[in-house]
Amino acid sequence: MIKKCLFPAAGYGTRFLPATKSMPKEMMPVVNKPLIEYGVDEAVEAGMNEICMVTGRGKRSLEDHFDTNYELEHQISGTGKEAMLGHIRDLMHTCTFSYTRQTEMKGLGHAILTGKTLVGDQPFAVVLADDLCVNPEGPGVLAQMAQQLYRQFRCSIVAVQEVPEDQVHKYGVIAGDMIRDDILRVTDMVEKPAKEDAPSNLAIIGRYILTPDIFDLIADTEPGKGGEIQITDALLKQAKEGCVLAYKFKGTRFDCGSVEGFIEATNYCYDHFYRAG
Ligand code: G1P
Repeated sequence: MIKKCLFPAAGYGTRFLPATKSMPKEMMPVVNKPLIEYGVDEAVEAGMNEICMVTGRGKRSLEDHFDTNYELEHQISGTGKEAMLGHIRDLMHTCTFSYTRQTEMKGLGHAILTGKTLVGDQPFAVVLADDLCVNPEGPGVLAQMAQQLYRQFRCSIVAVQEVPEDQVHKYGVIAGDMIRDDILRVTDMVEKPAKEDAPSNLAIIGRYILTPDIFDLIADTEPGKGGEIQITDALLKQAKEGCVLAYKFKGTRFDCGSVEGFIEATNYCYDHFYRAG
């Protein structure tokens, strides 16, 4: 059904300086695997194998990561170390990867619009790789959204979670009418509101299913919070004209854009994936 997954990956990652001075934040390793690869794994698990990335200056290592490294592979060929490349080789066989560059940093909405040339006229998923999501009890967050919800509702969907009031200013925040105990129909959406202006404490996290009419809506969206073109503003228009759902996903999300979240994710992945084999 949904085959394409878009990864906006053009941002600077300033919260991780100096690590991200010359390295894309999406390449930061959580244990021994870069953040972007966790995101691609989640997309593949959800049945998406056309991986589209919006990159920018200094982000070429993202492309190199999903490509053959002949010298290295020749060097370790026939040794026990080859097994460590098994998973990424599988991904490279399963998926196609395409890239385009965002040449000016004009916000997440603009980055998604830049990806239109790769996505075309079809519903697609968006993953913000610095939100690392896991669900040990069942399907991943994107699989829940694409294979369970989109199949049924056929409209744009954002993943949400409750956050403490003093954290709402970091997120897009929604309000809506409950239509199931884990789904709301969005009636309002504000990008990074002050605590007093937040319509609720339900924060959008970096997983979206978008229908392609979103592109025209983004193109008509004026710069909003921070002078940037916000996907949140375009989605509010879509919610008012049609329908956007907010989904309280099953699983855990780590904010790997913050040092604390990154460390938590590292500890979690070390225990659950690395040490557990
Ligand atoms: C972006 C979105 C925001 C969303 C957040 C999730 O913000 O603009 O609506 O809540 O991702 O991580 P950013 O964290 O890129 O500033």
